[in-house]
Amino acid sequence: MQQLPKDFLWGGALAAHQFEGGWNAGGKGPSVVDVMTAGAHGVPRKITAEIEENEFYPNHEAIDFYHRFKEDIVMFSEMGLKCLRTSIGWSRIFPKGDEEEPNEEGLQFYDDVFDELIKHGIEPVITLSHFEMPLHLAREYGGFRSRKVVDHFVRFAEVVFNRYKDKVTYWMTFNEINNKMDVHNPLFLWTNSGVTVEEGENAKEIMYQTGHHELIASALAVTKGREINPEFEIGAMVSHVPIYPYSSNPEDVMLAEEYMRQRYFFPDVQVRGYYPRYALKEFEREGYDIPILDGDEEILLNGKVDYLGFSYYMSTTVKSDVQADNKGDIVNGGLPHGVTNPYIQASDWGWSIDPTGLRYTLNRFYDRYQIPLFIVENGFGAVDTIEDDGSIHDDARIAYLQSHIEALGKAVNEDGVELIGYTPWGIIDIVSFTTGEMKKRYGMIYVDRDNEGNGSMERKKKDSFHWYKDVIASGRVLD
Ligand code: BG6
Repeated sequence: MQQLPKDFLWGGALAAHQFEGGWNAGGKGPSVVDVMTAGAHGVPRKITAEIEENEFYPNHEAIDFYHRFKEDIVMFSEMGLKCLRTSIGWSRIFPKGDEEEPNEEGLQFYDDVFDELIKHGIEPVITLSHFEMPLHLAREYGGFRSRKVVDHFVRFAEVVFNRYKDKVTYWMTFNEINNKMDVHNPLFLWTNSGVTVEEGENAKEIMYQTGHHELIASALAVTKGREINPEFEIGAMVSHVPIYPYSSNPEDVMLAEEYMRQRYFFPDVQVRGYYPRYALKEFEREGYDIPILDGDEEILLNGKVDYLGFSYYMSTTVKSDVQADNKGDIVNGGLPHGVTNPYIQASDWGWSIDPTGLRYTLNRFYDRYQIPLFIVENGFGAVDTIEDDGSIHDDARIAYLQSHIEALGKAVNEDGVELIGYTPWGIIDIVSFTTGEMKKRYGMIYVDRDNEGNGSMERKKKDSFHWYKDVIASGRVLD
């Protein structure tokens, strides 16, 4: 039997906008997700100009953790979670984003949540910005197109670092900062950066320009955090979908290598503290005008992260001699050469299931960066069926998670990768980010709520609840 170290952070992951609800409670302002309607597999979510009366916005109520957090935390504690990764709704603290002073009611809410977690022996692991920019900053400033938003973000970071300095040790700056490398899908630039691309603009250039501002904001926040509490561990957070070559054809191998730069660009800067040469070459080749100011190089160097957090759900594959009709499909990551991998099955939403890809990712990241890693999202979105006796047999979810835990166990025990913890995504059912649905469920706790917002919100334990409780209690990763 192989185990992980005693202090390994077994946990669960969530994001404020996907589970809190209470979208306008306690002085909270609207965020960029509060104007996103529900979509479905293949049907994009709409981003409306304002909040419109006749539209349904699934994040507004989500699963109402805002009013039920005490009961939910009791269930997390029963499962044995050692940590809970969640985020702070930026617009709960700064409703518009550019105020001088924070909203005390919003700050108090997170004090209450963190106190409750700590009382139950669960360590909060906190993302500063998980797709929750105040809407006002997006509409009035163009989001991270504007350097002023860097200051507003850093002020937000400073306020919450100071407020929770004795309650939170592990922080991350931006969730999946690299999502927007897929510029074909407007969802990513909007939720990452509060940016919409206008007709005639070069989306890739805008992505790098706003990306520069986010990299500066992240680095300044890291530096500020270290001043406030030198014990803080502040990480980056990237989405990682490794890209395999379809065959041993050197053209496929080189193509996959080049595409992988889309995955590595942001963490390369956040971990190493400077722009990689392949990116500088691209800026030069394409004539991109990146708003790098005097002093920025030093800011990036001083603001290197302590660890790398990442999400891992699936892998993708590219083939050099096809030019697929790419419509920005999320599964192939918007890659024009993306093809189906014949060795890998996929979920009902077309996300491939590839546990070996997790071990491969851990090894490639660790070889590249040599800093601790943290798997802060991994999971299986599926439809669940409630049996007549109320039980929920989510065997496919258990099989997915079990195989990924075995893979991370090998990476730690056989490959020597330094891994801080593992927080499966959506430990309780929440609103899906890409589709806004409830029926794409990741949780080990079922929530009675459907895609249209009907349901009692009652919570029920799935089979995976008991299975994960046993995994945590035994620490067993391989039989
Ligand atoms: C990640 C995000 O992209 O994937 C989460 O950080 C998201 O916010 C998760 O929920 C799963 O995606 P989805 O679309 O299935 O909810």
